[in-house]
Amino acid sequence: MGPSSVALLLAVISLTAALDNGMLKTPPMGWMAWERFRCDIDCKDDPQNCIGEKLFRDMADRLVEDGWKELGYEYVMIDDCWTSMQRDEQGRLQPDPSRFPGGIAKLARYIHDRGLKLGIYADIGSHTCMRYPGTPLDKIVIDAQTFASWGVDYLKFDGCYSNPIEHMLGYPLMSKALNATGRPIGYSCSWPAYEGGLPPNVNYSLLGEICHLWRNYDDIQDSWDSVQDIIGWFANNQDDLQPAAGPGRWNDPDMLIIGNFGLSVHQARSQMALWAIMAAPLIMSNDLRNLDNSARAILQNKMAITINQDPLGIQGRRLLQV
Ligand SMILES: *[C@@H]1O[C@H](CO)[C@@H](O)[C@H](O)[C@H]1NC(C)=O
Ligand SMILES: *[C@@H]1O[C@H](CO)[C@@H](O)[C@H](O)[C@H]1NC(C)=O
Repeated sequence: MGPSSVALLLAVISLTAALDNGMLKTPPMGWMAWERFRCDIDCKDDPQNCIGEKLFRDMADRLVEDGWKELGYEYVMIDDCWTSMQRDEQGRLQPDPSRFPGGIAKLARYIHDRGLKLGIYADIGSHTCMRYPGTPLDKIVIDAQTFASWGVDYLKFDGCYSNPIEHMLGYPLMSKALNATGRPIGYSCSWPAYEGGLPPNVNYSLLGEICHLWRNYDDIQDSWDSVQDIIGWFANNQDDLQPAAGPGRWNDPDMLIIGNFGLSVHQARSQMALWAIMAAPLIMSNDLRNLDNSARAILQNKMAITINQDPLGIQGRRLLQV
């Protein structure tokens, strides 16, 4: 082993040691509310589909009873619109009391009792994207502590209503605050998506040190156009993006929309195949209570999942553009 290979080895070791709390060595798999259920808060007239504790319990039940969990789909993730419009008297975020009457800690217990994990959502700005209370710099520590005290396992930290300076300060601060709670919490940073997704505005070495995954680009919508736009952007910029990925540090092209309304069966197969090859998080946003057999078969395809979950964590590249 010559001096240059020793130097290379040391460089690799110091890179992998940086955020090594052992989590998300393969891309996270699970279910998230956003693309399918959005900000439906009407639990009075739409109790089946509103953002409330029933929706997340239902999805946990489906993950366990319909074979998802044993394939690796283990996260149940809340997105925007879960909080009350006010913090509590101690300045903590609190769930909307009518939609989450049992509170988040109880929901986390329900999910943990079934061998699953709970993800939650916050935003580094003054408000979330849907204008619920944000987590500005002076609230980061208390919110990290609150999430840990509830038993939350994963945080998506969004970036609406904030500026680049706040991102630069706040994303690393939240990483430290989560670590300081002592609870292992997966950390998904929306930072690059708010800075154009590319160097020099985005420093992927730094992101790899402080986050487990990050949204690079626009939100997915329920259409093949949207899937194609995302795939094209990732492939066109793969020289910057592909080397950023590896165990514990993933690019996130956003949720799987398979099982919704926008994709044909062939298009759904394409999304699954490409997300698998890209070492992307496999986070479904669909209604697991009403999924047709073809969507189920595509999302439960063992070959695709095995490729996605390869322990080497090498993101695939586009070799040929036709
Ligand atoms: C906190 O960070 C240290 C150093 O990277 C790591 O060893 C530890 O596992 C982390 N703990 C948690 C709870 O994230
Ligand atoms: C990117 O972040 C890494 C790790 O924190 C740092 O060493 C490097 O100097 C940064 N690069 C730039 C161009 O700021």
